[in-house]
Amino acid sequence: MIPRKVIALEPYDASQIRQWLKLATQFLDDSLGVITPPKYQTALAHQSVGLLFFEPSTRTRVSFELAAKHLGASTILLNEQGSSMSKGESVMDTCANLAAMGVGAFVMRHKSREIIEQVGAALPTPLLNAGNGNGEHPSQGLLDALTLCAHFHYKAHRAWDYSLQGRTIAIVGDIAHSRVARSDVHVLERLGAQVTLAGPPELLPEVGQPGWGEARRTSSLEDALEGADAVIVLRVQRERLGQLEVDPAQYAQRWRVGQAHLALMKPDAVVLHPGPVIRGEELEAQVADGPKSLILQQVRCGVAVRQALLLSVMGAA
Ligand code: NCD
Repeated sequence: MIPRKVIALEPYDASQIRQWLKLATQFLDDSLGVITPPKYQTALAHQSVGLLFFEPSTRTRVSFELAAKHLGASTILLNEQGSSMSKGESVMDTCANLAAMGVGAFVMRHKSREIIEQVGAALPTPLLNAGNGNGEHPSQGLLDALTLCAHFHYKAHRAWDYSLQGRTIAIVGDIAHSRVARSDVHVLERLGAQVTLAGPPELLPEVGQPGWGEARRTSSLEDALEGADAVIVLRVQRERLGQLEVDPAQYAQRWRVGQAHLALMKPDAVVLHPGPVIRGEELEAQVADGPKSLILQQVRCGVAVRQALLLSVMGAA
């Protein structure tokens, strides 16, 4: 059964993940730029997608909006300021009202992990999680996987293959507070990769904590990067640190991924980052802009993945 609500990647097997990725590749051209083949340009005509962003966002919000519009849908953008939520209306009531007006799907980002699950359980409207607190960020996980498959298969052999078998992928930074890392672990492991989580002990999830698959943990950047095929660098998510204090200068000195680190990795290794990049803190600008960086390719793949997800949950794939 095709899922109509995608809140997390953890429940899905490799076959479902490959279906989403395969559909997404239809929205990439030969040079991996974003396209919409004519047959999809009106696939969501006369439908509307509600973009409910209750936390800041640039890439995710804009790419969902572009994705919906490329498929012929209209979009409604709502955040807390400027909506009746600022008068005290609940997320649930807001969603129920939008659904009653005929909004065809919700894309939601919220600081709470649970609210999206409650909306999903209460309303039949198709629903995509665009980041729920430190929960999951499924479209980011899928776009990271697509970017890696594009690099290791399509760019190298001009043929798509949705496998990362035998690849070692390091995720470096503030893992514990990252919804991107959680979704990445699931999707990368389903496709056969071995994942290493690396960061200072206080920013690593505890061993045995559910939701982290089989991923290995290390508190040595060098150990994580040694022989790796790719590194996904994450920022320190200060908005979720609570009482924890992380000194930016000390963090940068120990954990910033720089040019010298790349020599530890495989010769064809690549660097990813979901954004926003805090240049100089977790990543050297030279690396972010360098030949191994796939950061802007991730953004292109993001539009393609979001087109695939919208089509899929709205029953138009
Ligand atoms: C991430 C997010 O918001 O979860 N960004 C994104 O969606 N591209 C990562 C982050 O904020 O660090």
